[in-house]
Amino acid sequence: MTPPSSTPLPEPASELFSLRGRRALITGSGQGIGFTLARGLAAAGAELVLNDIDPVRLEQAVATLKQEGFPVTGRCFDVTKSAEIDAALAEVGPLNILINNAGIHRRAPLESMPLEAWQAVLDVNLTSAFLVTRAVVPGMIRRRAGKIINLCSLNCEVSRPTIANYAAAKGGLKMLTRAMAVEWGKHNIQANGLGPGYIRTAMTGTLTVDPEFDRFIRARTPAGRWGEPKELVGTAVFLSSRAADFVNGQILYVDGGLLAAL
Ligand SMILES: NC(=O)c1ccc[n+]([C@@H]2O[C@H](COP(=O)([O-])OP(=O)(O)OC[C@H]3O[C@@H](n4cnc5c(N)ncnc54)[C@H](O)[C@@H]3O)[C@@H](O)[C@H]2O)c1
Repeated sequence: MTPPSSTPLPEPASELFSLRGRRALITGSGQGIGFTLARGLAAAGAELVLNDIDPVRLEQAVATLKQEGFPVTGRCFDVTKSAEIDAALAEVGPLNILINNAGIHRRAPLESMPLEAWQAVLDVNLTSAFLVTRAVVPGMIRRRAGKIINLCSLNCEVSRPTIANYAAAKGGLKMLTRAMAVEWGKHNIQANGLGPGYIRTAMTGTLTVDPEFDRFIRARTPAGRWGEPKELVGTAVFLSSRAADFVNGQILYVDGGLLAAL
């Protein structure tokens, strides 16, 4: 069937997915997934504001991306400290994209999990997304545009022994993502989750070298392997771009098919 002549031509992908003229803040981007997403968003045209709690790591990450020719600055703060966040973000300028990526693990059997380990994981993986987004979103509401991406996990849906704190935090982050979508959709803000499967980073370092766990992941993942941080870039660029202007409140799993398999 010939489309009616009034049908607008689709925009070329180079425009639809372009992040030119956008400024993005990625928390915990001194290494790992956050750093790789920063590089990917920068390659798609965005100006980047990196963050980490570790000043040396942050400085090295900023220097690396600058050396590669990308416009990037760094803000060192702890994503769990409201006053630090507000002070650090006071002068970064308008932010179009926020990726809440900072996260930690403190593994312990649930029956003997110290309260400190429970609280720390809830603070860094869940409360931080509330605090950082609360600091950033007023500008997005004023400008009637914004993209928020929360780093979710397979543990938004399923758990394993010794990670009850992490699963509770990521499960909460899934619902915080939906709450953001519901509350701010009317301001043309889209909040979505990016849920990686098992990805090789420092966080999973001890697991990737554990032969038994490595075998388990390869057998459990339909792709038959671990994922690499760079395999998350396409989804992050998509969710940050105009291509996702009507995508809101979704959790997009990039997991080699793991969640689809029994
Ligand atoms: N690696 C995986 O397989 C995997 C899978 C699913 C989800 N995730 C999620 O992806 C995100 C990134 O994970 P990663 O594997 O790159 O981890 P990583 O440990 O390699 O990097 C995390 C970064 O966050 C920083 N950070 C920690 N606490 C912070 C704080 N309070 N304030 C600011 N920065 C802080 C760390 O210094 C570090 O640079 C996390 O939210 C994690 O839960 C990872």
